[in-house]
Amino acid sequence: MRKKIVAANWKMNLTLNQGAELVNDLFNGMPVLNDDKLVILAPPFTHLTQTAEQLAGMIDVHLAAQNCHHEAAGAYTGEISAAMLKSAEVEYVIIGHSERRLYFKEDDATLAKKVNQALTNELKVIFCCGEPLEIRDANTQNSFVESQIKAGLFHLSTEQLEEIVLAYEPIWAIGTGRTASSAQAQDMHEHIRSVIAKQYGQEAADNMSILYGGSCKASNAAELFACPDVDGGLIGGASLKAEEFLGIIEALS
Ligand code: 13P
Repeated sequence: MRKKIVAANWKMNLTLNQGAELVNDLFNGMPVLNDDKLVILAPPFTHLTQTAEQLAGMIDVHLAAQNCHHEAAGAYTGEISAAMLKSAEVEYVIIGHSERRLYFKEDDATLAKKVNQALTNELKVIFCCGEPLEIRDANTQNSFVESQIKAGLFHLSTEQLEEIVLAYEPIWAIGTGRTASSAQAQDMHEHIRSVIAKQYGQEAADNMSILYGGSCKASNAAELFACPDVDGGLIGGASLKAEEFLGIIEALS
C-alpha cells in the first residue's frame, strides 16, 4: 500500500552533537503516526550509527544515508558502499539527488548502478529526479523527468520497484525559497505516476510513494501534501529545525 512519507535530508549540515540534539527534540515532539505514514532521517555518514541508536525506540522513524558508491567494494578512497550502510542499520539510501548529479557528475548509468548496489544489499531507495530552471522555462520538464526515471529505474523488475520511493525535486525550488505551486507539483507527480503505470502497470504506480522536495516547509506542506499524487516530502533546510520539521510531519495527517 502507498505510504505517506516525510524524509529529512540534512545534507552536509550539523555536527554529531547538533545531530543528536535535533533527533532528541524530534523524539520529544513526535506525533503518533498511523501505519500508512512514516518519517525518514538522512543524516551525514558520520552520524548514522549514533542516529540508529537514538532511533532504536522509534518505530515510525527510519534511517537513510544520502548516497552510496556504485561498486560493491574496493579501492575507492573516501567512498561508502551499500553493504557498509546495511551493516550500520541503514534502511534507505537517497540516490540521484540533483546536488550529486551536478557537483559530483553522477550520470544516469552510474545512478542505475547505485540503485542496483542498494537493492542487492536490501536497502530501499529514495530516487530523486527534477528539472533545472531552463527546462521548466522551455516547458519540457515532463520529458526531462521521464528520461531520468527511465534511465535510473526501468531496468528493475516489478518486484524490485516496490523498494523504490520517488522524490520529485525541481532544481529551481531547492534551497531557493521558491516552492513549486501545488498545481505544478500535482501535474508532475501525476505525470510520473503515469510513466510508471505505462511500464509497470497501474497497481505498481498506485502503490508508489512520490515525494515532493524543494523549499517545502511547515507553512506550505499541508497544501502540497493534500494533492492526490503528492505522498509527502523530501525536506532539506526545514528538516534542520525540530519545530519546523515536526510541523511538516503534522501536515501528513
Ligand atoms: P530544501 O528543502 O532546502 O529546498 O532542499 C530540498 C532538498 O534538496 C531535499 O533533498
